[in-house]
Amino acid sequence: MDTSGNTVLITGGSSGIGYAMAEAFLAAGSEVIICARREDRLLEARKQQPGVHTRRCDLANEQDRSALVQWALASFGKLNVLVNNAGVQRDIDFSQGIGEFLAGENEIRINLEAPIILTGLLIPHLRAQKNAVIVNVSSGLGFVPAAKMPVYSASKAGMHAFSMAIRRQLSPLGIKVFEVVPPAVDTALNSQGRAQRGGFRANLGPAEFVAAVMKGLANDVFEIGYGMTTDLLEASRAELDESFERMNSGW
Ligand SMILES: NC(=O)c1ccc[n+]([C@@H]2O[C@H](COP(=O)([O-])OP(=O)(O)OC[C@H]3O[C@@H](n4cnc5c(N)ncnc54)[C@H](OP(=O)(O)O)[C@@H]3O)[C@@H](O)[C@H]2O)c1
Repeated sequence: MDTSGNTVLITGGSSGIGYAMAEAFLAAGSEVIICARREDRLLEARKQQPGVHTRRCDLANEQDRSALVQWALASFGKLNVLVNNAGVQRDIDFSQGIGEFLAGENEIRINLEAPIILTGLLIPHLRAQKNAVIVNVSSGLGFVPAAKMPVYSASKAGMHAFSMAIRRQLSPLGIKVFEVVPPAVDTALNSQGRAQRGGFRANLGPAEFVAAVMKGLANDVFEIGYGMTTDLLEASRAELDESFERMNSGW
């Protein structure tokens, strides 16, 4: 894809990978709209990048989602790129049953259902655009699940399957579908879980990761990995099983 001259909606663009993508698309000469739940973070993003347009939206809320789509299409008729990036991650222990899952944010609703519905809502508009693109952010954990994060891993495996399937469906319409598969990146994601793991650091910042993502997008690499996730994208079932054992050996 051409990363310049687009009108790009980035969900979860107020922080981490989404914010770095907002900066990168702005630098490439695209118009950028970001949305997230916390207004203060959106305002902070706009302070850093005055060119960015912001909208408060909880993507798990149906009314918020519809209002976002209506507003975006009314205000930005040339919208041609959707980046489904917003996500949350939780450690959830199922050994005692359903309690922990029900006590916190619903990763299926936020990480999987919301991008699926947002995509569906925007397709009638995107199919009328010249260079329409959908970018879905999944995770290495969608390929090798983390025992500590069963629902998150399942939501990201779902994002991978959805991306493959709609890439095939939408290709005759000229809509390109990319999947970005991040490895661990130092962001605010699951800060509680990371703190419990002794302040886990990946030593990979969002800007460095996104620089590689932008190259992948520009070169029409439809599944974009980085470091270990590049290997996962090429791995055999036996190699995936080995990674699973290595990653979850302490469980
Ligand atoms: N960091 C990693 O190691 C890593 C690895 C693999 C994949 N990923 C994926 O990368 C994506 C970006 O994550 P990140 O690491 O950049 O995390 P982050 O810094 O926590 O950013 C997440 C963004 O999503 C927004 N968001 C969360 N829930 C939302 C909701 N219901 N409605 C609207 N916005 C919502 C957040 O803003 P509000 O909280 O204000 O809504 C924030 O802007 C996620 O899909 C994540 O799963 C990250």
